[in-house]
Amino acid sequence: MATASKSNPAKTTDTKAGAARKASGRRRRTGRRDPLAITLLKKDHREVEGWFDEYEQLEDDADKLALFNQIALALKIHTAIEEEIFYPEERGDVEEDMLDEAYVEHDGAKKLISEIEAMKPGQEFYDAKVKVLGEYIKHHVKEEEQPGGIFAQAKKGDEDLDAMGERMASRKDELMAEYGAPKSN
Ligand SMILES: [Fe+2]
Ligand SMILES: [Fe+2]
Repeated sequence: MATASKSNPAKTTDTKAGAARKASGRRRRTGRRDPLAITLLKKDHREVEGWFDEYEQLEDDADKLALFNQIALALKIHTAIEEEIFYPEERGDVEEDMLDEAYVEHDGAKKLISEIEAMKPGQEFYDAKVKVLGEYIKHHVKEEEQPGGIFAQAKKGDEDLDAMGERMASRKDELMAEYGAPKSN
């Protein structure tokens, strides 16, 4: 099966961010390095956002299916590590309402993913559903990353987000093996 990861938008973003940090000289306190848990989640966000943009350029149905499958897998694993580790451990540090809404938004995305999985590219509303899923995810990511949002509140909290990031990374590896992600070699 064709792999759709031709470009790596996350890498471009990282490089730009790195250059911007260097250019700004001394780091302000607010611009400190993100702890591992946040770095990992943000990296997933940039990756999947890039894939949604890439999807818009595709015309071939087989390419669309391959890229959608890649997006769906990434979202399933990402939401799983947030729901199994990050969100529950942040109860107490992050506003309850905000966390509850995040779970509901995950459920909405999962429903849309399974609707798309039951369809084939080329069918009526297939592209529209993928587009709406992308917009939905962008909205959700904003709630997580915006000032005062979930990540910002988590960073101010008591949890060791570097240690949590280690656990999230190994759970991610496990889930990728479980869901049958294609091996990189
Ligand atoms: Fe997320
Ligand atoms: Fe999330």
